[in-house]
Amino acid sequence: MVTTPATRPLKLARRMQRLGTETAFEVLVRARALESSGKDIVHLEIGEPDFDTPSNIIEAGVRALKSGWTHYGPSAGLPGLRQEIAKYVSRSRNVDVSPDQVVVVPGGKPIIFFTMLALVEEGDEVIYPNPGFPIYESMIEFLGARAVPIRLREEQGFAFDVDEFAGKITDRTKLIILNSPHNPTGGVLDEATIRKIARAMGDRDVMILSDEIYGRLIFEGEHFSLLSIPEFRERTILLDGFSKTYAMTGWRIGYGVMRQDLALQVSRLMTNSNSCTASFTQIAGIEALHGDQSSVDEMVQEFRRRRDLMVSELNRLRGFRCQMPHGAFYVFPNIEGTGWQSKKLADTLLEQAGVACLSGTSFGSYGEGYLRFSIANSIENIQKALERIHKWCSEHV
Ligand SMILES: Cc1ncc(COP(=O)(O)O)c(C=O)c1O
Repeated sequence: MVTTPATRPLKLARRMQRLGTETAFEVLVRARALESSGKDIVHLEIGEPDFDTPSNIIEAGVRALKSGWTHYGPSAGLPGLRQEIAKYVSRSRNVDVSPDQVVVVPGGKPIIFFTMLALVEEGDEVIYPNPGFPIYESMIEFLGARAVPIRLREEQGFAFDVDEFAGKITDRTKLIILNSPHNPTGGVLDEATIRKIARAMGDRDVMILSDEIYGRLIFEGEHFSLLSIPEFRERTILLDGFSKTYAMTGWRIGYGVMRQDLALQVSRLMTNSNSCTASFTQIAGIEALHGDQSSVDEMVQEFRRRRDLMVSELNRLRGFRCQMPHGAFYVFPNIEGTGWQSKKLADTLLEQAGVACLSGTSFGSYGEGYLRFSIANSIENIQKALERIHKWCSEHV
């Protein structure tokens, strides 16, 4: 189809200039274009499990479609799912959550969007991890707030320096974003670190968005949530969902858990935007939480196997140095020793070696000096990618 060029200039709202993006989708488009011109590409750029959604969940979704779950539902989510989520979160975070504190949304991402729309005013300060999930910074800037990055440090296992963090909290701080296990570094904030962060925040009147979407994908130790600390229950917004844990990225389902008055406001934003999350998807979500969990354990085992291979092989490459990630499904090697800038190296590996990965700078300015590889691909493909990178490095580094 030929697109007719527009004749009138598009008068976009100014705020659109402040909206960022998630580079993974752009790299995927470029990788696909190279593939259609005949090049073989190994995809290590996109952050979604390569596994199929477990069959019990698919069957529940199909049954739901066939039995009429094809209509609108309540904006905050189906009561049965909100109840199941409240039970799951109460159990997993050792906290008493009620269904009216739960809002079901299409994916984890809308919780970032909606809670920030509901809470953050122009000029407010928002502290967020850098490198970090790019949507945080994008949304902060879109809303005209001030983005205050807290640098994650490789030498601290990609946690941040808590004293440095404490120094960033001011009277204008409205929201603090935490993410553990962390995208893109795979870093995990353990209980001791979360408690230290909690002490640094003290009883200040700030809200905390705790993005725990990778909370079940942990290789060592146990996931710990700020929500488990009683003094932080009222101030914490938990973001979690089904995309990563149950390989359900395309179903679009996630949720937030927050104080009930805020949950009502987020539901109003749902009414104004999506109306509701797809009803059959929510029925499948009930099965995901209620049904057999062995697929999650199997997925974690497989990711661990791939992580071990990836990290040990990357550490053999000239100019690469790679920490062991303890959660999520990414590895984040330091590539300063190659003498290449991150973006240039990521682009060149795609074009010359046929390996798609992301520049650390896709996750913020402190990502310079790093690349992100997703291990959501088969061990054979990871091996193929490593061989290609190895060959390329031996010729160019
Ligand atoms: C840290 C983090 N938060 C939230 C999300 C959003 O997940 P969803 O696909 O459920 O919207 C992602 C997805 O990559 C993520 O990495």
